[in-house]
Amino acid sequence: MPRLLLLPGDGIGPEVIDEVKRVAERLTNDLVVDERPFGGASYEAAGAPLTDAALAEARASDAVLMGAVGGPRWADVTRRLRPEAGLLALRAGMQVYANLRPAICYPALADASSLKREVVEGLDLMIVRELTGGVYFGEPRGVETLANGERRGVDTQVYTTHEIERVARVAFELARGRRGKVTSAEKSNVMETGQLWREVVSELHARDYADVALEHMLADNAAMQLVKNPRQFDVLVTDNLFGDILSDEAAQLTGSMGMLPSAALGAPGAPGLYEPIHGSAPDIAGRGVANPLAAILSFEMALRWSLGRPDLAERLSGAVQAALEGGARTADLGGSLGTRQMGDAVLAALR
Ligand code: NAD
Ligand code: IPM
Ligand code: MN
Repeated sequence: MPRLLLLPGDGIGPEVIDEVKRVAERLTNDLVVDERPFGGASYEAAGAPLTDAALAEARASDAVLMGAVGGPRWADVTRRLRPEAGLLALRAGMQVYANLRPAICYPALADASSLKREVVEGLDLMIVRELTGGVYFGEPRGVETLANGERRGVDTQVYTTHEIERVARVAFELARGRRGKVTSAEKSNVMETGQLWREVVSELHARDYADVALEHMLADNAAMQLVKNPRQFDVLVTDNLFGDILSDEAAQLTGSMGMLPSAALGAPGAPGLYEPIHGSAPDIAGRGVANPLAAILSFEMALRWSLGRPDLAERLSGAVQAALEGGARTADLGGSLGTRQMGDAVLAALR
């Protein structure tokens, strides 16, 4: 039986993962589900945000589903022990270099977006974010004190050709099954890594994917185009940092941060890491009001991409759409349902 490891994490993480558990129990008995503390919860329990045992279990699972990590409680913890460091170590340890972040504006939610209905209606865009390289992992990094007493902070943006090529390949392959267009976003006008990114993507395109339309766009312009005319995009491939920022922007196009799932994939056959793109939302944690749909839709992606059950994924996405069409709305979508009630609405719509 396929194995799913749940990492609820912190803040609203456990609240939204609880709803995933209910959905999973209803959908299938053919899944071995295990659970471990992660992030701040793991730091409290075991002194580290990701234990060796948790990473080993993640790598031995078919899919890992995370809630969210982090929060003000751990703001002063040394960086390598912070909840977020556990997440980066998990991504690196699982070698999940391609992060698929689909932004779909469900018809029922077109009015929940802060943009006009006519701009977002029908939006179906796939951001492919490079996830295990770039400035998130580059060395040197750190804060040092200079001889004159000033302090100096350093982060390093670094990419090798193979890191760029393998994530671009994922984008081109996805585009072939969609509307056949890839937009690659970087800052080749000012950054060396951006220049290399553009060259490597162009070369790969010419060599293996000439049937796909390729467009290069500077990342700042991409941020603007996303709110001006988001439907011009099909697949948007970009680096780790730009992908982080542009995917939060895309989330809001769909109505709320609480709607966007993600799948992080590595080599074919290796386990995938699934996570809502939102964080632990300390401002609403503990109140039972978080939207669980990003987490539920992340489970849907796991069924599709790692657990070999596209049939169940179809049923689940149908239920989410039906619940929304039936008027189910959490507070972030302008409604009054709590987390559990939104879970109830999805369960009630499962066919
Ligand atoms: P956040 O995504 O947690 O919250 C941003 C805003 O969106 C908040 O107003 C929050 O209430 C709202 N929101 C987020 N998810 C929601 C949901 N499911 N339903 C309703 N509203 C939702 O971002 P932040 O406040 O910048 O970060 C908080 C903490 O989370 C930080 O410690 C950060 O590092 C961490 N974080 C973790 C992840 C992750 O675990 N993958 C992602 C982003 C941020
Ligand atoms: C995300 C988050 C993470 C990131 C943090 C919590 C490390 O913002 O998954 O989008 O920056 O990648
Ligand atoms: Mn983010």
